[in-house]
Amino acid sequence: MNRTMAVTPPAAPASEHAGIAAARARAGIDRKTDVGRMIRVDQAGEYGATRIYAGQLAVMGDRAPHSAEITAMASEEDRHNAAFNALMTRRGVRPTMLQPFWSAAGYTLGAVTALLGPEAAMACTAAVEEEIDRHYSDQLDELEMHGAGAGSTDPELSGMIEDFREDERQHRDTALAHGAEKAFGYPLLSGAIRLGCRAAIRLAERI
Ligand SMILES: [Fe+2]
Ligand SMILES: [Fe+2]
Repeated sequence: MNRTMAVTPPAAPASEHAGIAAARARAGIDRKTDVGRMIRVDQAGEYGATRIYAGQLAVMGDRAPHSAEITAMASEEDRHNAAFNALMTRRGVRPTMLQPFWSAAGYTLGAVTALLGPEAAMACTAAVEEEIDRHYSDQLDELEMHGAGAGSTDPELSGMIEDFREDERQHRDTALAHGAEKAFGYPLLSGAIRLGCRAAIRLAERI
């Protein structure tokens, strides 16, 4: 007669609840990790941008054609970079370990394109900003998707990205308006820089 009791399925609620709680905790950790990755790559990108413009201005000085435009864009990159530095500190996100590499790579890219001439410097900006625009748009989509129709899961981060994306789009348009496409070997130069940016984004998310 104990048989009936033996085949009764074990009472599930406690273990189910534990399972749901664990899944929620995991999802919470995943979301936190995702946002941490986003902030890490964005800070690395903004920092890299300040270094590109620093490299260009070091070569061009402040009297070359387009120096004024580059100086104005550089000060906006400083604002973006400072905002991500502050967010990173508030959220306890570790910075990319490749910071010294981004510093050197960004500066070199800026200096080399400026040495090629003002139009190549503009081509560099157009290519980099095109990729950053795409990257920021992808992140905004991702934050919205996690909110599943309820808006962004992280309104503070989304707000910053939207704000900065506007500046990046203007930087790209400024570069195109100042002869980016007239640079020697523009398609090749632009393609190479854009590929480099995509690789940098993937690296900075992880390392
Ligand atoms: Fe920026
Ligand atoms: Fe920019």
